Amino acid sequence: MKRGKFIVFEGTDGSGKSTQMKLLKEELSRRGIPVYCTHEPTDSPIGSVLRAALTGKIEANEHSIALMFAADRVDHIQNAVYGMEQKLKEGVTVLCDRYYLSSFAYNGGFVPLEWVIELNRPAMERLRPDLTLFLDVSVEECMRRVQRRGEAERYESCERQTLIRAKYFELFERFKETEHVVVIPSEARREETQNRVKRAALALFGEEL
Ligand code: TYD
Repeated sequence: MKRGKFIVFEGTDGSGKSTQMKLLKEELSRRGIPVYCTHEPTDSPIGSVLRAALTGKIEANEHSIALMFAADRVDHIQNAVYGMEQKLKEGVTVLCDRYYLSSFAYNGGFVPLEWVIELNRPAMERLRPDLTLFLDVSVEECMRRVQRRGEAERYESCERQTLIRAKYFELFERFKETEHVVVIPSEARREETQNRVKRAALALFGEEL
């Protein structure tokens, strides 16, 4: 059976990943491509602890957060019940909201980046995305969207988001030989962004919009 494609969405908070992911799922399904949508942090027990830490419900330091993200990811890849590896093997295309570049861009700003990369080496070696779509929205627009949503998480301040966005671009340069990243300007109309996302993803299947 032909292996499914692994497509990751990245971006700063409020960049519209989940909306775009949903729209891409609809497009691929329409074309008869089986799709599974997922996200990190996951809904597994490790992911739930992470969410509680991110929203300040429980206290956790940046080192343990980075470790938990790496553990959540390994489980997300290999779990016998909901693991992404299994889905891909079954020919299902997996769309994932955030993956290891999020750990590098977010957690790598608090604890040594090289250490975070080492923690994620197992994921990088075992399951590299076929495509990473980075939804690029200015920090000002992201903050407006996040504020409208009315939930403030650990990393949602303007200064932090500016640093995170810059970090992403450094990472794209550093990993350009191994990571297939497409930057999608996402400030314009939603349909325009949507078409850019679809075009980049469909190319993986040899299809056109
Ligand atoms: P997410 O639910 O994707 O937030 P949003 O919908 O606002 O993009 O992610 C929750 C937070 O977790 C987000 O601020 C980014 C952070 N995060 C990390 O710090 N490291 C990671 O490895 C991942 C996957 C997310």
